[in-house]
Amino acid sequence: MISKCLFPVAGYGTRFLPATKSMPKEMLPIVNKPLVQYGVEESLEAGLHEIGFVTGRGKRAIADHFDVSYELEHQIAGSSKEQYLTSIREVIAKGSFSFTRQSEMRGLGDAILNGRRLIGNQPFGVVLSDDLCVADEDGEGVLTQMVKLFKQFRCSIVAVQEVPEDQISKFGVIAGNPIKDNIYQVNEMVEKPAPEDAPSNLAIIGRYILTPDIFEIIENTPPGKNDEVQLTDALMTQAKNGCVLAYKFKGRRFDCGSVAGFVEATNFVYENVYSQE
Ligand code: G1P
Repeated sequence: MISKCLFPVAGYGTRFLPATKSMPKEMLPIVNKPLVQYGVEESLEAGLHEIGFVTGRGKRAIADHFDVSYELEHQIAGSSKEQYLTSIREVIAKGSFSFTRQSEMRGLGDAILNGRRLIGNQPFGVVLSDDLCVADEDGEGVLTQMVKLFKQFRCSIVAVQEVPEDQISKFGVIAGNPIKDNIYQVNEMVEKPAPEDAPSNLAIIGRYILTPDIFEIIENTPPGKNDEVQLTDALMTQAKNGCVLAYKFKGRRFDCGSVAGFVEATNFVYENVYSQE
């Protein structure tokens, strides 16, 4: 049984200043929809309807976005503008939304640990909403693919993609034994290695399925790269003690944490999604 998904959304979004000075970076729109809504829709499609956000200061707009705006509903009810609310109405109807706050930024591992009270003792998905993932035409979303795999293997899974050597130091990188098409059993994981130290060109992107023993492992994981508690390090411990899989997903990923990736995603969504609606 897997029904929950955690969204760490406490980061500052410094690369998008001044736009992100008073607005959460997760609310930046890709065409007409905030970045975080794409991630939530992917999660709902995968059957993960209980959404948990690990937020921080200045992120209240996210909570408001996933709640009904009575004033707005009242103003445009019955008008032709109502159609613009369709997608968010569907999301609000399908999902349940919980929030907890991370008071200090001590790394992705620490953010996940903060989400423990929202998750409890169940396997769960994680979406880093900076990574916008789109399915292949007629294909399934990345989380849907991963949930299917989880039901088969019952262990933590990280989504990976091949990246060029000059990009590798931006990611957690894995090495593993192929056990099936596009599936590897992980035996090495390094957070943001120098290209010469990278164990492969398979980079972790912002989609995970985690088993709940990860919380205790994170508690016992010392700060690593950049003096932050790294999820990658905790997953390496999990891989040593049991099993972690890496899955080369089908579909495309855009790095919306960078300006170039954000623009690329915007053009892609405008041409392939928005104009087709
Ligand atoms: C995080 C993870 C990293 C992963 C990346 C994917 O890094 O620590 O392992 O490859 O997300 O987007 P961040 O980009 O938050 O620094």
